[in-house]
Parts: sequence; C-alpha cells; structure tokens
Amino acid sequence: MTDPALDAEALRERAVASLITARDRTTLLTSCVDEPELTAQHSPLMSPLVWDLAHIGNQEEQWLLRAVAGHEAIRPEIDGLYDAFEHPRAERPSLPLLPPDEARRYAADVRGRALDVLEAAAFDGTRLTEAGFAFGMIAQHEQQHDETMLITHQLRRGPRALTAPDPEPVPLFTGPSEVLVPGGPFTMGTSDEPWALDNERPAHRREVAPFRIDTTPVTNAAYQAFIADGGYDEPRWWTAEGWAHVRRNAITAPLFWRRDGGQWLRRRFGVTEAVPPDEPVLHLCWYEADAYARWAGRRLPTEAEWEKAARYDPAGDRSARYPWGDAEPTPEHANLGQRHLRPAPAGSYPAGESPLGVRQLIGDVWEWTSSDFLPYPGFRAFPYKEYSEVFFGPGHKVLRGGSFAVDAVACRGTFRNWDLPVRRQIFSGFRTARSEEI
Ligand code: AVJ
Ligand code: FE
Repeated sequence: MTDPALDAEALRERAVASLITARDRTTLLTSCVDEPELTAQHSPLMSPLVWDLAHIGNQEEQWLLRAVAGHEAIRPEIDGLYDAFEHPRAERPSLPLLPPDEARRYAADVRGRALDVLEAAAFDGTRLTEAGFAFGMIAQHEQQHDETMLITHQLRRGPRALTAPDPEPVPLFTGPSEVLVPGGPFTMGTSDEPWALDNERPAHRREVAPFRIDTTPVTNAAYQAFIADGGYDEPRWWTAEGWAHVRRNAITAPLFWRRDGGQWLRRRFGVTEAVPPDEPVLHLCWYEADAYARWAGRRLPTEAEWEKAARYDPAGDRSARYPWGDAEPTPEHANLGQRHLRPAPAGSYPAGESPLGVRQLIGDVWEWTSSDFLPYPGFRAFPYKEYSEVFFGPGHKVLRGGSFAVDAVACRGTFRNWDLPVRRQIFSGFRTARSEEI
C-alpha cells in the first residue's frame, strides 16, 4: 500500500527541488552575457533573453499565485507583454519590456511567494493542485524556456559565453545497427504520471505492426555520407515540399555547418570546431531527416513506434516510464539538463538502453518522428488550450525523447514536443526505422 500523505510530501519536495534547479539554470543563462546582450534580439526566430526571463516569472505568477492561491496580480499591466500569443517573437524587442534588473527582481519576487504557496498547498482537491501538478507544470515550463534560451545562445554571434565539460569518451559502438520491435498492442501515453502534460494523456492501447529501429541516433558521419552522395541535389529523396524548401533557402547541410576544404566544420556556442563523426547529427529540419531516411532505404519512425521502442518491456508486457524502467534519470542513464553542451557519441549510456537494446532514446537530441501533432483519443485541454490544443494539426511534426538541453523534469517516455517541419535551430536529430516484412 502506498501512503498518499507520504506521496504528497515526496512530490512537494520534488516540486521545490525542480523549481530551484530550473531557477539556477535560468540564472546561469541570463548572467553569462552583459545587459545589452540580454535585451538584444540575436535572431528573429527568438525572443530577447530578458523576455524569456520575465515571461517565466509571469507564467509562474499566473498559475501558482493567481490560479492556485487566489492572489491579486502584482503588475497586471505587464501580462500582455509576456503573452506569447499577443506578440510574435520578432516583435518582442520593440516592446516596453522590463529591463534586466527589474525582470530579475520580478521573477525573484514571484518565486519567493510561490515557495510559500507551495509549502502550504494541499496536494489534493482540485485538478490543478492534485499531486502538485501546477508546481510541476511551472518547473517544466521554466526548463522549456531554459532550452529555448540555450538555443538563443547557440544563435548568438560573438565569443563563447557558456562552458560545460564534454561527455566521457566511449569506445566506438559496435552493437547491432537496428533492433526488431515485435508487433502487437502496447500502452501509449499516461493517465497516472502526476506531472504529465495534457497532450500525453490519457493512456490508451495502440496497435503497432512489427518494425526495426536504429539502435542509436543517426551520426554526423552517416549524414555526411548522404551529403557526399549528392543527397541535397537529388529531388527523388525529398518530398515535394521539402525539395522546394531546401532549394528556395539554398540549404546544403545542417544549420551551423560550413565546409572548409576537405572537412566539415560547425559553430557550437561561439566556437568553431571539426564536426565529430560519431556524434548524433544535430540542427536539421524534418525535411532533411525525412530525405536522409529515404536515401538510406528507410523511413522515420511514427510517434507510436518511437514510444513503443522507448517504453515497451516484452518481459512484463507493459510500458515503463523510461527505456531503462521506472527510475528517475541519473547521469548514467542519459545526457540531460545542459550538463554537457553537446550530444554524447552514438552508443553512449548503456545503462539507459531499452529492454530491446535501443540506446539514447532519452536525452542527446530531440528525434523527429513522421507523425503530425494530434490529440490522443479522450484528450482534454488542461489547464489551458494554448499549451497544446491550438497546435494540433498537420502543420506540426512530433519530436520525442528530449535533448542534452532539456532537464529531466520536462522529459520522459511519454513527453511530446512539436515544431514546424522547417525548424533547425532546435536541438533536433533523428533515427530511422523500417517495416518488418511479414
Ligand atoms: C512544447 C517546446 C513547443 O517552447 O513553444 C513554452 C513549450 N509552451 N511556453 C514552446 C512552451 C509555452 C513549447 N514547446
Ligand atoms: Fe512559455
């Protein structure tokens, strides 16, 4: 028997720890550059860092102070400035945003009050506070913006502002290149993960035909072979839309890559370096992943295939929270949380492999799937339509598994990310699959 009072206290501690971890990361990302760099727009695709900072505080105020605790707005006049739907990113630098000092003070003020609310909150009753959901949601929201801010750092021109140790070197991976995932139904999504977001719910049975999937994400070396084989010049590997897109935009390699004589270089957080052959390929759009897979005689996995590969345990005929089981991620399992500022070599993290032997499903690079972002049967928007519902439809493709830039609190076997098929500044990679002939 589990004791609900004990569970609530464990969740409360986890909420406090997750909020603190997120704020430490936010502080690092917004203190390693000077003030003009915080208010500048480094790319029209991104907000100024100081917008993310106050937006983090404003969401926390709206959900933890106003919705959960019934407080009055601290500064009602700023809500509109930090509403992502009122102002597209390109427009945000020209808004009368809080200057860096004030943004920091505002976020810290909200946080102080939110921790008081958290200490006293009942973890049952309303759906918002049950199992501490709103607190977990806000920790995830801040970590998602920490990943967004890291993308801004990657786009920023100028000398290196951030450093982190590299992942441990590993021997070249020599295991099988793909594994067979047996056909049959499995449980997709979740109804009992306390902080799962609305689009991950509810748990439902999904039939999946037998298929084979890559043991590791596609590497830079493999992707270079596609380029060297004229992959970007050959319309037959591309969808019509993908071909039109790469031609129109003169795309001939992943974002941040540059050819120098005989070798490929890349820019990574302000430093130019040789593209490491064994690392999962990063910064490509859905069209590029899809074209590579076709060139390789394969295809992208569907979202259901990806989740079955990541969660299905044939021994117990059940779906686990993560590839390695139900335990929270540790540094032995996966490359998460901006501990490193790059993916780990393909074949790393043997302790994180799935029961069927698939590696690096969690962490390293977000993996494009072939699927459109759609609601599961029985979906209910919660607590607001603008988190998921407004993005459902054929315009957005699903990415799975999280990257080195996302924290464990916002990453699990059921977690769904999505983006436009043209996006490349995100920490995106992929692996390929093929149907098993039966
Ligand atoms: C789930 C990563 C697509 O950044 O647009 C942040 C997360 N939603 N604030 C995004 C999000 C609202 C979202 N993604
Ligand atoms: Fe947001």
